[in-house]
Amino acid sequence: MNIESIFLLNFRNYSEQYIELDPGINIFYGENAQGKTNVIEAVYLLTMGKSHRTNKYNEMVKWDKNDSRICIKFNKDDFDYNIDFVLKRNQKKQIKVNGVRLDKLSDILGKLNTVIFSPDHMKIIKEGPSERRRFIDSILSQTKPKYYYNFTQYLKVLAQRNVLLCNEKNDGIIEKTLDIWDHQLIEYGSRIIKDRQIFVESIDNKAWKINKELSGGREDFHLKYMPSIAYGKHEITDIKNAFEKRLTEARASDMRRKLTQYGPHRDELNLFINDKEVRNYGSQGQQRSVLLSLKLSEMEYIKDETGSTPVLLLDDVFSELDKLRQGFLISFIKNVQVIITCTDYENLYLGDKSTYKIFNVRSGKVYNK
Ligand SMILES: Nc1ncnc2c1ncn2[C@@H]1O[C@H](COP(=O)(O)OP(=O)(O)OP(=O)(O)O)[C@@H](O)[C@H]1O
Ligand SMILES: [Mg+2]
Repeated sequence: MNIESIFLLNFRNYSEQYIELDPGINIFYGENAQGKTNVIEAVYLLTMGKSHRTNKYNEMVKWDKNDSRICIKFNKDDFDYNIDFVLKRNQKKQIKVNGVRLDKLSDILGKLNTVIFSPDHMKIIKEGPSERRRFIDSILSQTKPKYYYNFTQYLKVLAQRNVLLCNEKNDGIIEKTLDIWDHQLIEYGSRIIKDRQIFVESIDNKAWKINKELSGGREDFHLKYMPSIAYGKHEITDIKNAFEKRLTEARASDMRRKLTQYGPHRDELNLFINDKEVRNYGSQGQQRSVLLSLKLSEMEYIKDETGSTPVLLLDDVFSELDKLRQGFLISFIKNVQVIITCTDYENLYLGDKSTYKIFNVRSGKVYNK
């Protein structure tokens, strides 16, 4: 996967900007608040259909304008793509891929593949389970359109079930309607659980290998998926049965508490180094290595699933890594296109990577160095 060019029109602090990227490393350097992350945000927006830092699309339109546009040309498996994303204030997004209009925003998923890594991702390690679920969900949504569908349907059903549980009238009609919602919750939820299970097994192996090397062979890093429903085998029917059993057992207490206590929205993903939980016992350095291992295994996973290497977006992280980890990362990403943002590129370790391009970003303009 290789991004050839990015065109920004009235996007954040950019008026009109055309950027031609190198197939190797691309370094965007500049002082704070100049527009470096905005470039990364634009690429992420065309990967996921949404920003990595806001849910409000209007925020991305330049303050004094009403329409914004991002065009990205890229090559994937010897095929040229052109995504044209038009963002108008308070209006439906208009997206075209190679001139053909997409019906739904979510149809953009799976076209442009990227892995984003910013200091904010430390939350995956340090914070609560929702950050780790988000980590899984965003990767699976990018690689499996069906997962994204099941996931959004699940959330809708869950919201409706919770509204019903808040209903004050406790009569038979509520119980009957709950049966209907439960049935759907089980259908969508079980598929989510199954996909997450397979995903975690696959990424566990990759991350273990990477972290082993990063730690000089000293550490065994493992990910453990802890679904809120206990089930024996991977078969979808086993998961469905276990989910149904759990919902039935918990129904009275769900009704008392007015919420749904079991299901994929309550799953946990635990991270361990040598059998100790990284969140509680890992040193700063170990936590950083674990995050790097997770992000690099995310790259490998996307490559395995889609057949092409995703573009790596490193927002303010590369310069924060020590020489050892910078060197490791550079050797790992030999044939990967990378976008790096930093305030100063002088001290970056780029190894013998021959192709790279340096851009200077100053008040919403990108200059070739
Ligand atoms: N909708 C918008 N319209 C115009 N300017 C905007 C808009 N949204 C953000 N900005 C401006 O964009 C700039 C921030 O850009 P960005 O986050 O890319 O900075 P950065 O170069 O990554 O900085 P840092 O090094 O601090 O991370 C700020 O000056 C901000 O005021
Ligand atoms: Mg930034």
